[in-house]
Amino acid sequence: MADLRSELNIKNLHLRNRLVLPPMAREATAGDGLVTERLLRYYAEKAAGAFLGLVITEHCYIMPEGKASPGQVSAASDEAIPGLRRLTDTLHSCGVPCVCQINHAGGRAKQSVTGLPSAAPSAVWADGTHFSDRELSKADILAVVEAFAAAARRAKDAGYDAVEIHSAHSYLLNQFYSPLANQRGDAYGGSLHNRLRIHFEVLEAVRGAVGEETPVFLRLGSIDDRPGGSELADAVEASRLLAGAGVDVLDISGGFCGFVLRGREQEQGYFSFVSEAIREAVSVPVILTGGVTDPLAADRLLRGGKADLIGVGRAILQDSRWPEKAFAALG
Ligand SMILES: Cc1cc2nc3c(=O)[nH]c(=O)nc-3n(C[C@H](O)[C@H](O)[C@H](O)COP(=O)(O)O)c2cc1C
Repeated sequence: MADLRSELNIKNLHLRNRLVLPPMAREATAGDGLVTERLLRYYAEKAAGAFLGLVITEHCYIMPEGKASPGQVSAASDEAIPGLRRLTDTLHSCGVPCVCQINHAGGRAKQSVTGLPSAAPSAVWADGTHFSDRELSKADILAVVEAFAAAARRAKDAGYDAVEIHSAHSYLLNQFYSPLANQRGDAYGGSLHNRLRIHFEVLEAVRGAVGEETPVFLRLGSIDDRPGGSELADAVEASRLLAGAGVDVLDISGGFCGFVLRGREQEQGYFSFVSEAIREAVSVPVILTGGVTDPLAADRLLRGGKADLIGVGRAILQDSRWPEKAFAALG
């Protein structure tokens, strides 16, 4: 059984241990989406000493309509590549491999940020909530798929070791997956397979852009933890289908409940019941993130077979020496 010190190979990617810095948006650009010195310093500080096995950098928007916040990093144009290259150089010079998370905010994008009307799988939710300005057409979906592929190609050109498709935290792909937000009557709505259809299309296009040897991660907003939302059985079946469609790593988080599970915030690895069930159903590595602050708990979760990799976010945000201290504590 693996522990926090165990190495892992995923295709071309070699991890020296199982500790992952999960994506955390820093809002550190000047509004143009380009990587700044401040952002480089942040990542250099987190990766110093190579105690992290892997860094998944914060979500980058793939097209202007999908920008989530004013300071978000861009992967939406080739102009972004030199800054992203400096970011990957920074992390590699620390000895840590890196994954680029690519995202579209869908109905969560605000016109005040993008200057454009928002679009989502459905403009209105099952409960009548008005979520977005308009519903995505088939042509819009095609454009989104192509934008994911173009962003993945830019990430690869910038020197990233892998890419991660963001389908969590109620952003666009999660909006398709969640029965709360997806009310479509066409081939992209209804059954779980239909709600995952855009994922399969994005995966195929991203694979075409990065090639067979570059790992493709997918962050799954596994359960909504809301009445009528996605549940554990959906998450397990979705993971099985996504792994079958070529996802190399499943990164497990929450969906419309966000990254925190209500009432269980104090639990170390509060999504572990989900990651464990998924891990039993797939043969690709599974990342568990959420609530881990204690290195002994991280090690225990791995030894207990709850996941293959452990993400530690806010604890490392608060203390850049957490990874170093963690390995010291493990002895
Ligand atoms: C400030 C902040 C920004 C975040 N940004 C992202 C993001 O860009 N992409 C993402 O998938 N998750 C994001 N998350 C969620 C984290 O990756 C992680 O799942 C969450 O913090 C729970 O893990 P933790 O308890 O170890 O912090 C963010 C979390 C925080 C606190």
